[in-house]
Amino acid sequence: MRSRIAGTGSYVPAKVLTNADLERMVATSDEWIVERTGIRERHVAGPGEACSDLAVKAAERALAAAGISAADLDLILLATCTGDYPLPATACVIQHRLGATKAAACDLSAACCGFVYALSVADAYVKTGMRHVLIIGSEVMSGITDWTDRNTCILFGDGAGAAVISASENDRGILSTQLRSDGTLCDLIEVPGGGSRMPPSEKMVAERMQYIKMKGNETFKVAVRTLEDIARETLAASGLSVEDLDLYVPHQANIRILKAVASRLGLPPEKVMLNLDRYGNTSAASIPIALDEALRQGRIKEGSLVMLGSFGAGLTWASALIRW
Ligand code: COA
Repeated sequence: MRSRIAGTGSYVPAKVLTNADLERMVATSDEWIVERTGIRERHVAGPGEACSDLAVKAAERALAAAGISAADLDLILLATCTGDYPLPATACVIQHRLGATKAAACDLSAACCGFVYALSVADAYVKTGMRHVLIIGSEVMSGITDWTDRNTCILFGDGAGAAVISASENDRGILSTQLRSDGTLCDLIEVPGGGSRMPPSEKMVAERMQYIKMKGNETFKVAVRTLEDIARETLAASGLSVEDLDLYVPHQANIRILKAVASRLGLPPEKVMLNLDRYGNTSAASIPIALDEALRQGRIKEGSLVMLGSFGAGLTWASALIRW
């Protein structure tokens, strides 16, 4: 028995922050950002707009695309590192607002890999009897971004993407998922303050420890290596090759990372889904937003072989192979 993606949806906040806007905030230039990252603009949440607000809108669109109602859901998994509160789980806020009265709900923390990790969990539950699982990646990265740090503030954006995972009636669907982690690299990308290691305090805020710190160069190299390795392992495990792929939907972190991975794999540009120029890196939301756009643009058809690939803080990396 297989699970399949029965419907997808996405939502980004209305406000757009362009590279020209960033030029007025830190010492940077549109030219530098486009050349080093491929990002031209990103969406950012307005005042009072939280993770669950974006997630609910993406989820409603995914439910409509799947043709089911929230009351049909057995489980809601929210992948995020920017939930509404430390407690309770933001998935419970979403469960209530959707009216998913029968669904269990919890959050999943795997940074930018959260959506693929959630897909893998949903796949396992549907294979063992659940009927419909809603998975969401939703992030308000603008809240943990240090807008005075040009090394990181140019990279991130806000948004949400969602998918309904249901039982497949044929042999198509999620063929395999691969999940990896390496905690020896946990200091590559981190938010040092605000947890039990460094609880919130005036000192913590004064030292700006509530914001993302990143070793960009090292992260870049590890990203290329892990994305290439897991793509090869994923295809080999299914007895498939790069030529069999119709579309690669990677985590949208940096155009240079994705070009390097595509070139090492021998993937032509038309088989790589890219939309980071308009959204930046939306962490756990990046793959479901890209997947939703690819579907709506007709780049994925019945029978298409699609591979998802992600990496992120932790370090985590993950992939999924899907026959549509
Ligand atoms: N505008 C202008 N100059 C900038 C800048 C900016 N926004 N950010 C950094 N610089 C400067 C640096 O200070 C450095 O100057 P120096 O040589 O005088 O010290 C110079 O540009 C080169 O910095 P470097 O860090 O080597 O640049 P890079 O080519 O590695 O690009 C990143 C930086 C962050 C774009 C790149 O490392 C990257 O994308 N890494 C991966 C990050 C990622 O994907 N994270 C999320 C994982 S989920």
